[in-house]
Amino acid sequence: MSVLNDRNILLIISGGIAAYKSLELIRLLRHEGAHVRAVLTAGGAQFITPLSVSSLTGQKTYTELWCLTDETEMGHIRLSRESDLIVIAPASADLMAKMAHGLANDLASTTLLASDKPILIAPAMNPQMWNHAATQSNLQILRKRGILQVGPEPGDMACGETGWGRMSEPRQILESIERYFKPKALSGFSALVTSGPTFEPLDPVRFLGNRSSGKQGHAIAEALYEAGASVTLVCGPVNLPDPQGVRCVHVQTATEMLEACESSLPVDIFIAAAAVSDWRPVQEKAQKIKKSSSTPDALRLVENPDILKTVATKKKNRPKIVVGFAAETENLEKNAKAKLKNKRCDWLLANTVGPDDQGTEKTFGSETNQVLFLSADGPEIWPRSEKKDIARMLVQKLTSALASPNKKGRKKS
Ligand code: C5P
Repeated sequence: MSVLNDRNILLIISGGIAAYKSLELIRLLRHEGAHVRAVLTAGGAQFITPLSVSSLTGQKTYTELWCLTDETEMGHIRLSRESDLIVIAPASADLMAKMAHGLANDLASTTLLASDKPILIAPAMNPQMWNHAATQSNLQILRKRGILQVGPEPGDMACGETGWGRMSEPRQILESIERYFKPKALSGFSALVTSGPTFEPLDPVRFLGNRSSGKQGHAIAEALYEAGASVTLVCGPVNLPDPQGVRCVHVQTATEMLEACESSLPVDIFIAAAAVSDWRPVQEKAQKIKKSSSTPDALRLVENPDILKTVATKKKNRPKIVVGFAAETENLEKNAKAKLKNKRCDWLLANTVGPDDQGTEKTFGSETNQVLFLSADGPEIWPRSEKKDIARMLVQKLTSALASPNKKGRKKS
């Protein structure tokens, strides 16, 4: 039976030529057994009519906020509550802006503000509008709230321009909806991931940091979310967008990272992918250090807390599985084995960092990674793969270990 059978979908159709594709989306949803109720905004009604929408949903199409009969039959509060998922297709720049800032001046925006249901947006707009800083910052706000997104896609636009802004095809939107409803391997499990470098300030303008990009940690958070886990990502300063559907806590220093991790416990899974600075300056200088000042004092260092070891050795609230990383420039296996033991983690993913023969960095910032996976069952070499695929391989291991806890591969202590 389809995962959409008997599901209630509220489809909000806002203004844009892509509104015509939503008619096909309704047909596909109903074919899978979903019940579709539709709200058509004033903009949407410039492109398709309530009659064509109702002909396909088999239900009244809602258009007005201030309508006496709608409020007695089905007001915006009921509309917002009686669905399993709200799909906005097309999602215009205007509606995204209203959602981001909590405006409620028509039926669609008021329904969305009154809703506690999950929301999937399928944006569609001119490429300039999509790339505009305002739209991108609204998108970040919506993503932080856990709003799901499909598209837009690149291509030729109805307005004659080319770029990112085409609404995804109805079948792709349908697949995203189905993915949302599919039972997932890590549903009901919680995960905490650290990612990126830490920056330890020396003075207001300088810091001690490293070259970690956060790509691997972010990919792991994303893959855990896709597998159904509820994910918190504690990330250092990175140049990456927050992954969709993940609670993100942004930090700068190792001390802040530890605090954020401690307050996110208990969790089932802890993955320490961050490249945490082992040391920090004894004291951050209030003013920029002058060239003439004595360097030894300014650069005196103190050891940072080991976040991985702190979490892995907890008596109370120790996660069921603790995974560490090891970035090494030499003696990969020997150093990694020592770290697995010393940090008391269950698994360790080790990789070599530093320049290859051509002088290109092997791991930090790269799209790919080669991993030596260590557990009590011994080492496994994972072939060089996209960081996203490494993340999925790790999630598969987690899934099978959590399904049969005795297969965790951790030595009994
Ligand atoms: O000791 P090293 O930094 O090589 O260990 C790497 C592993 O330990 C990584 O998983 C990293 O996230 C974690 N770590 C940590 N806190 C530190 C140092 C490293 O969690 N202060």
